[in-house]
Amino acid sequence: MTLSPPPNPQAPGAEPAAASPDPAQAPNAPGAGAHAFSAAEREAVYRAIHERRDMRHFAGGRVDDATLQRLLTAAHHAPSVGFMQPWRFIRVRSRERRAAIHALVEQERVLTARALGEREDDFMRLKVEGVLECAELLIVVLPPGREAHVFGRRTLPEMDLASAACAIQNLWLAARAEGLGMGWVSLFDPQALSELLGLPPGSRPIGVLCLGPVPAFYAQPMLAEVGWAQRQPLAALCFDEGWPQPPDPCSQSMATGDVANRDAPATGAAPASGCAPGAEPAPVSAPGRTPAAAPACAPKADAAGTGDRHLRASGTSPTPTPEAMPARPAPTSPTPRPVAAAASGPTPSPDGSPA
Ligand SMILES: Cc1cc2nc3c(=O)[nH]c(=O)nc-3n(C[C@H](O)[C@H](O)[C@H](O)COP(=O)(O)O)c2cc1C
Repeated sequence: MTLSPPPNPQAPGAEPAAASPDPAQAPNAPGAGAHAFSAAEREAVYRAIHERRDMRHFAGGRVDDATLQRLLTAAHHAPSVGFMQPWRFIRVRSRERRAAIHALVEQERVLTARALGEREDDFMRLKVEGVLECAELLIVVLPPGREAHVFGRRTLPEMDLASAACAIQNLWLAARAEGLGMGWVSLFDPQALSELLGLPPGSRPIGVLCLGPVPAFYAQPMLAEVGWAQRQPLAALCFDEGWPQPPDPCSQSMATGDVANRDAPATGAAPASGCAPGAEPAPVSAPGRTPAAAPACAPKADAAGTGDRHLRASGTSPTPTPEAMPARPAPTSPTPRPVAAAASGPTPSPDGSPA
């Protein structure tokens, strides 16, 4: 199966590596039968997904009320944990309030730059919001009283945020289909924004959405265009059966080769993952792994990348360096194997990072 992005007539030079076949050519998924959309409809869905961009450059103008209503209705039809619908949208129209929100974002932009250390200057050169230029400004807020919703949140209370993010994504995709751009800005102090908007205790603002006509859609994520970060190959993010285990340099069995399959070659054949067969070419280009620097016999960082990898990687190397593909669990094991404790290192935590 060849994996190439759908036809992208409006975005010459768009990202080359979108791992999706042309939906117009693709046969229906087995079992989809009469439930599948038509080829043209599927193509439209995938096109919206691939051509949606986080926009920070706007062309002024306006969003008419009927369109705004359609977009908010799309947002409101998102999935939500226990059907709690934890999204509230505040439309900000006054210039003064917009300016005040912009000032909050600017404050946080400077603080974020400082927190980035050596990438401070690079970050300050980025455009990270279009608060003053966009046609519409929407603030998305998690409402108070969310603790009453336990279904699906008893152990994962953050599923309210996940649900609201689904609503924002719906809005984002619908906006793209309408020819409008949207940018999600999260650079603000939530407490200060809550005070500015008079939010009730227990609520939480999670996004400043800039919406409206744009001069053009970026062909790829703006952060990729400027070299801040690159999309990781899908195959590096998909695993079979369980989390890949870090190779143990001290393991005798490793030395004798009986777990040779746990690591794909560093030159990069993609792991034979059931979730993305032959999905994308290796080597993984995400920067930041430095296997050679790992102390002997200490477990390495998780193969798929830890939360801080982006910043570490971005901060140290503008040019992606090749890295090994993730290790795989033993092919015959139906359940994830426990991570082997290294002879002299700490036991990795379940997320693969050193405890
Ligand atoms: C939760 C969330 C918060 C974000 N916050 C910001 C932000 O404050 N400023 C910004 O410029 N981009 C922000 N973005 C946009 C990301 O930078 C963008 O999605 C990413 O670079 C990929 O680009 P794409 O959305 O065009 O595919 C945010 C995205 C998400 C999902």
